[in-house]
Amino acid sequence: MVLHILFAIIFLFMFTFVIGGYSAAPWVPARASDVTRFIEAGEILPTDVVVDLGCGDGRLLFAAMRAGAAEAIGYEISLLPYLIAQVRCLFTPRNIRPKIYFRNFWKADVSRTTVVYTFLMPKSFDHLLKKINELPNGARLINYVWELPGMTPEKIFEAPKSLKLYRYRLQTAPTIPATAPLN
Ligand SMILES: C[S@@+](CC[C@H](N)C(=O)[O-])C[C@H]1O[C@@H](n2cnc3c(N)ncnc32)[C@H](O)[C@@H]1O
Repeated sequence: MVLHILFAIIFLFMFTFVIGGYSAAPWVPARASDVTRFIEAGEILPTDVVVDLGCGDGRLLFAAMRAGAAEAIGYEISLLPYLIAQVRCLFTPRNIRPKIYFRNFWKADVSRTTVVYTFLMPKSFDHLLKKINELPNGARLINYVWELPGMTPEKIFEAPKSLKLYRYRLQTAPTIPATAPLN
């Protein structure tokens, strides 16, 4: 009986790990030194709502809350890092605790987000480019390792022996009111 339960748990961990890898990227946590760089690149303000799409064990979100973000929200589909994040939440004071959901981020509502962190595989970038259309005007997107196709970064963060961070400022096309006078 105990063996069956153990087997089921290991199967669930492995299955959800594979789903994450298939969907956008497997769980590979950002290095501690790069967490600090992510936070610096985000230039987090006390009004910011920070989201990590595929948050792993939540390390970027805990750091964002410590840096003073109003809210930090993460979505994770792989069970093991999600549970680690929840355990960390238990030991984190409520005022600096992020919200972490066991959920597919492609279906998440990101309309209130002002800073987005992404560390995903390039195979998911086509889909990601559609998802970021749901972000509000002026939101900052910080992407790890790879440049996003067809987008010009506002700033590139480089450090010795570290991977690059690309920051984008998202702008939706200005809409011209139908009644605007033609000059
Ligand atoms: C490369 S890891 C990055 C983890 C974390 N952001 C960090 O920097 O430490 C990518 C994470 O995205 C998760 N993931 C992939 N597709 C997902 C999806 N559709 N919904 C939620 N999480 C997903 C994976 O399980 C994995 O933990």
